[in-house]
Amino acid sequence: MYEDRILNSALMSKIMPASEAASLIKENMKLGFSGFTSAGYAKLIPTEIAKQGTAKNLTVISGASTGAELDGELAKAGLMGRRHPFQSNKDSRNSINAGTTEYADYHLGMLPRYLRQDIFGDLDYAIVECCMILEDGSLVPTLTVGATNAIVEKSKKVLVELNTSVPTGVYGMHDIFNPDCGEPIPLTSSSQRIGEKSIKCGIDKIAGIVINENRGECPKFKPVDEVSQKIADHIILFLREEVKKGHLPENLYPLQSGVGAVANAVLAGLSNAGFKHLSMYTEVVQDSAVELLYDGIMDTLSTTAVSLSEEGLAKFYDNFDNVKDHIIIRPQDISNHPEAIRRLKLISMNTAIEADIYGNVNSTHISGSKMMNGIGGSGDFARNAGISIFMTPSVAKDGAISSIVPFCSHVDSTEHDVCVIVTEQGLADLRGLSPKERAEAIIEKCAHPDYKDELREYFKHACEVAPANHTPHDLEHCFDMHTRFIKTGTMKK
Ligand code: COA
Repeated sequence: MYEDRILNSALMSKIMPASEAASLIKENMKLGFSGFTSAGYAKLIPTEIAKQGTAKNLTVISGASTGAELDGELAKAGLMGRRHPFQSNKDSRNSINAGTTEYADYHLGMLPRYLRQDIFGDLDYAIVECCMILEDGSLVPTLTVGATNAIVEKSKKVLVELNTSVPTGVYGMHDIFNPDCGEPIPLTSSSQRIGEKSIKCGIDKIAGIVINENRGECPKFKPVDEVSQKIADHIILFLREEVKKGHLPENLYPLQSGVGAVANAVLAGLSNAGFKHLSMYTEVVQDSAVELLYDGIMDTLSTTAVSLSEEGLAKFYDNFDNVKDHIIIRPQDISNHPEAIRRLKLISMNTAIEADIYGNVNSTHISGSKMMNGIGGSGDFARNAGISIFMTPSVAKDGAISSIVPFCSHVDSTEHDVCVIVTEQGLADLRGLSPKERAEAIIEKCAHPDYKDELREYFKHACEVAPANHTPHDLEHCFDMHTRFIKTGTMKK
């Protein structure tokens, strides 16, 4: 049933099969897609574009990552010439690292401004998933906003994928506001609504409507393991201590949490940590955050995407009427806006690939060259949060890689933006420490015992040979652990 989802009868004539919509897409076109962290992206149209295989060298822009039916299919078909600003699909990652796709990785909060600044020029088509089209052509997104409003603004034409698996009750959860309007953002709490319920589009801009009755792929989450649990325990202890010291209120400040198993474990751990009336001001809400709403521990979730597993989504729809008023889905340039993050004094928690002994963090590159996913919102939040925490298991690849290294092989968040580093070994609170004090704290508290001696030796040696003694480095040897891994398959001596 889609008739009750298209409120302007003149639009009925624009319904077409995905194959017809896909045939409008030609070589070298610039496409803007809805979607953020594997939620809210069009599925049938990109899959069909890939199947037809003729639209080569596409520029693909979306709020953040999408799933296999979009990033995966376009990359496998060799059609993705350029990609901005975040992805996490293995086929698009392979295409980027093979040099087939040119990839530019931006702070997610900046993408809408770059679109409006015409960095990419006009987009040929916006291809967006919605659950309703209103009388005036305005679009009601599904469970994300991401950059869809800016993408629709900047596109010559719009192809709508109307997803009938998403309840129309979603209408009212979105809060569309353009922070580039030149006024202060009137947001003083994460529960406030400041904008519109739908995305302005206009009937004439809609070039086609494709009906999709299927939910599509849901993200899968790794179960909480012992390492993630220990990291979560360290963070919860730290937050409790901060409350005791009077640095944080009892219900904490709004939380921002990255994605992945560790982030999931931290939020799950909050369910029995004694906190109440929590709130989140974040970019992605996963199963564990919604569970806190069901448990009555979380009051509000402000996000740009609700990205749930198959089971999580089924439970969400079962409880929809009880929780929908507690979730606000905003554009990513609001969810990630420095002004809002700073004012709300967020506690931000993101996952690192590696951190160095001075507190710089690499979130994106393996061995300095190979793209993993992208910086996502981690930089937006780390730079502006009240407390910025980075977490990582102390080792990767069964212990062959230490996540604590002398010098990061790539830096996304600098020592100036990182307050706390935590691994399953322990937590280093870096606030107020000089670089040398930070090095001692990170090595002693966070490094895995297998790598502590080498890190201690490096630091001692650097203090002896460095030309200056503020942030001592031996530039000849600071990447020894990385180069050993490349040559031998392990960082161990
Ligand atoms: N060297 C090599 N590989 C490493 C590594 C290192 N130092 N650290 C982690 N990895 C590998 C893991 O082994 C794993 O590989 P696999 O997929 O083959 O098993 C992969 O990276 C992911 O690591 P994992 O420990 O499972 O963590 P994750 O799923 O939480 O992802 C990031 C970690 C850093 C990749 C992810 O959080 C990310 O993309 N962050 C940047 C975006 C961001 O922070 N957004 C913020 C808000 S959503």
